[in-house]
Formats: sequence, C-alpha cells, structure tokens
Amino acid sequence: MSKIKKPTPATGKLGVLIPGLGAVGTTFIAGVEAMKKGKAEPIGSFTQMGRIRLGKRTEKRVPLVKDFVPLTPIDDLVFGGWDIFEDNVYEAAKVADVLEDKDLDGVKTELEQIKPMKAVFEKSYVSNIDGPNVKTEGSKYDQALALMDDMKRFKEENNCERLVMVWCASTEKYVEHAEIHLNIKSFEEALKNSDDRIAPSMVYAYAALKMGVPFSNGAPNLTVDIPALIELAKETGTPIAGKDFKTGQTLMKTILAPGFKARSLGVDGWFSTNILGNRDGKVLDSPENFKTKEVSKLSVLDHIFKADDNPKLYKDMYHKVRINYYPPHGDNKESWDNIDIFGWMGYKMQIKVNFLCRDSILAAPIVLDLALLTDLAARSNMNGVQEWLSFYFKSPQTAPGLYPEHDIFKQLIKLENTMRHLMGEDLITHLGLDYYEEL
Ligand SMILES: NC(=O)c1ccc[n+]([C@@H]2O[C@H](COP(=O)([O-])OP(=O)(O)OC[C@H]3O[C@@H](n4cnc5c(N)ncnc54)[C@H](O)[C@@H]3O)[C@@H](O)[C@H]2O)c1
Repeated sequence: MSKIKKPTPATGKLGVLIPGLGAVGTTFIAGVEAMKKGKAEPIGSFTQMGRIRLGKRTEKRVPLVKDFVPLTPIDDLVFGGWDIFEDNVYEAAKVADVLEDKDLDGVKTELEQIKPMKAVFEKSYVSNIDGPNVKTEGSKYDQALALMDDMKRFKEENNCERLVMVWCASTEKYVEHAEIHLNIKSFEEALKNSDDRIAPSMVYAYAALKMGVPFSNGAPNLTVDIPALIELAKETGTPIAGKDFKTGQTLMKTILAPGFKARSLGVDGWFSTNILGNRDGKVLDSPENFKTKEVSKLSVLDHIFKADDNPKLYKDMYHKVRINYYPPHGDNKESWDNIDIFGWMGYKMQIKVNFLCRDSILAAPIVLDLALLTDLAARSNMNGVQEWLSFYFKSPQTAPGLYPEHDIFKQLIKLENTMRHLMGEDLITHLGLDYYEEL
C-alpha cells in the first residue's frame, strides 16, 4: 500500500458521476446547483457546515471542515450519470417529487442539460422496475469498457481534472460471495462470460476502479464488498467506501442506541417499521431486494450493543425491521420505533419514536460529502477500504476480520481524527488531564 500523505490541492473541476438519477441523485444535484447560485445552504453536510476543533480547547481553533482540509469548492463540481430512464435531471426530479417547483425552477436550465447515459442494467437484479435507456450490446466486460468510454468522454467534455462515482441507483437483490468474486482474474473471466452473479453495480464499480475513480456505494448491495474489487482498488490506488447511506431510521438508531449503551440501560426489544412511497419503496417491495436492505439495517444494533460482552443487558433483545410500500407518502418516509428498555432492578420503560423524515433530503448531503471526501482520500494516497467514512453508512465497510463501528459518535471521532492526521495536526483523545496538571 502506498504511503498516506498530506493531500495535494484540489485544483480544477471534479466530475461527480452518479449511477441512478432518481430521488437521491436529483435532489443532490439540484441542491448543489442552487448553492452555486447562492439560493440554498448545504444543511446536513458536515464538510460544508461542520467545524473541527484543532489543538487544545484553550487555543480556540475551530475552523470549518472545508477551510481545514483542501476540498473541491462547490463551484468546481460538475455532474453526470446513468439511468435506465431517459428523463433529464429536471424531469427526473419532477418524477421523484422531493423538491418543490419553487426550488427546481431556479436551476431548471442546469438540470435539463444533464441527460443520463445508457445504464448497465439487469432486470433480474431489480425486478420491480424496467426502462429503455440501457446498454444492450456485448458481454458484461464489454459493458464495463463502454462505461469507461462514457467516463473518458464526460471528463474531456466537461474539462474535469478528476472524477468520483457515487452509486445512487436502486437496491439490487441479495447476493452472496461466490468464488468468482474472490480475485480479479476470476472476476474478469466472469465478466467476459456475463456470469449472473456479477451485479450491474459491480460492473460500474469495476469500470470506475480500473480508471482510478473513487467509488462510494449508497445502497446496501454487495458491490465493492468483494475481495476482487478490494484487490483492484488497491492495485489501482483507488479509494472505495460503502455501504448504504445512513439516513432516517438507522441514523436515529445509531444516535439513540449508543446513549442507552453508555448508561448501561438494557434493551428487550426494538421494533422498527417504515412506510414509504417512492420508487425506492417500490423496489424494496420485492422480497429479494428487501432482504439486501434488511441485512444492512439489522446489523447496526448487534454491533452497538455487543450482546456477547453484555449478556445481562442485551442477550434477549428482539430486533425487527419492516419496510412497507405506501404510495401516498411519496419520498416522505414515516418510521415508527418502539423500544422496550429496562433499568434499575429490571423495571421496564418504553420509548416511541415517530420520525416523519424526508429520505432524500437526509441523503443528499451525504452524497456531497462522500464525493468530496473520497476525492480528498485519492489526493492523499489513501486507497482500498476507507473505514474513516463509516460515519455516512448503515453498513460500514471494514478490512476483513474487523467488526464495523456503528456508534455515530465514535464514527465522528474517527472522521475528525483522520482529517487531523492527514493535515499533520495533533489527534484529540479527549483525555483533558493536561489542563489540570498545568494549573
Ligand atoms: N433515500 C435515502 O435516504 C436512502 C438511504 C440509504 C440508501 N438509499 C439507497 O439509495 C438508492 C437510491 O435511492 P432513491 O430514493 O434515489 O431511489 P430511486 O428509485 O428514486 O432512484 C434510483 C434510480 O436508479 C435507477 N437505476 C436502477 N438500476 C440502475 C442501474 N443499474 N443503472 C443506472 N440506474 C439505475 C432507477 O431507474 C432510479 O431512477 C437506493 O438503492 C436506496 O436504497 C437511499
């Protein structure tokens, strides 16, 4: 592995390429275009609005993250993507129905100019939707080459210095590791044979990594979580991060659960249900696609509570997650959580959380941060799995054998300390004894 170094400056334009110009993808692009015109603020984006403490508390150095690490300025971002539908980003945003006309109208011209390139798609992976804008010729390997051509063309036409890719396409059906996923050679052979076990998302990821384009996975698909693509990422010196944007209910879980755990409160049960009516909800209405999401959503509490280490508090916890497709709610997802907890002498208590959230509004700033931070990672010689970006994911990808850290507060410390490390600042341990020793 090459040595991590202080990031090089973020000169020139950064092309953000998005497979899947649906609710999340279009909300993200429309927001950034509005920000370029001073019509919106990047609310929810840690890189744009968050601050980072440097040095001792007495030094009072708390710059904005974007002023501390050299990130590409918002004005230098340009967007492209692929979708199975032909709608341009303005039309797709209207279909997604997340943003109101008053917010879309001001950026209509910019959004209309972004037309989706032909997608690599396989109906068996996303059974509930189908569309005409797809690459139909050749093997999966040929399609990967076609994606690479798309990227080269985009880069040239838009005069970009660098590219990143963030997967915002539909959740694919559940697949498990197979021998063809084990190394680059067997993976490439399988690509050439158009093996069924190679998901479209893996074809995009392969194409990106071959070209040294950082890849983030916003869905719970396996995608870059396979040895072949991890190996390729290292070989081409490319960062990868995944998976499944941490928004909505799981965001709440990783905020609340660490609090219960910190106070040694027990949990008997956690029942989570959701209703949502967007295209994502429709895709997840298929059991095979829901399974991919369920696995991603369920793992969170196990890792936070660690029942084996804390059997008296969490051994018998019953955790259930449900997603129900309910069209009238559109993208405005509603989630209910019933949490049965117990305290001193085993006395029971209940917590009810009813979150009326807007999924894509929570996801869009994550797309922005991942685009900027994976580009930062590439400029810092960081390649392979970027565990420091766990903060943004429901199922953080880690090195083999390492359990993921789900506690959002630990994830934040990891994110901040990685930035300090990159920039040659002292890491902050929060010990704080030195303030008292010096007095
Ligand atoms: N909204 C959130 O808060 C959130 C949170 C976590 C994860 N996600 C994941 O992000 C993804 C996008 O969510 P969304 O709400 O925008 O869904 P969406 O259905 O509105 O958009 C997905 C788009 O991907 C397109 N697509 C499907 N397969 C494709 C392929 N192979 N190539 C190119 N395009 C393809 C679809 O046509 C659709 O336009 C989903 O996988 C979802 O599970 C979303």
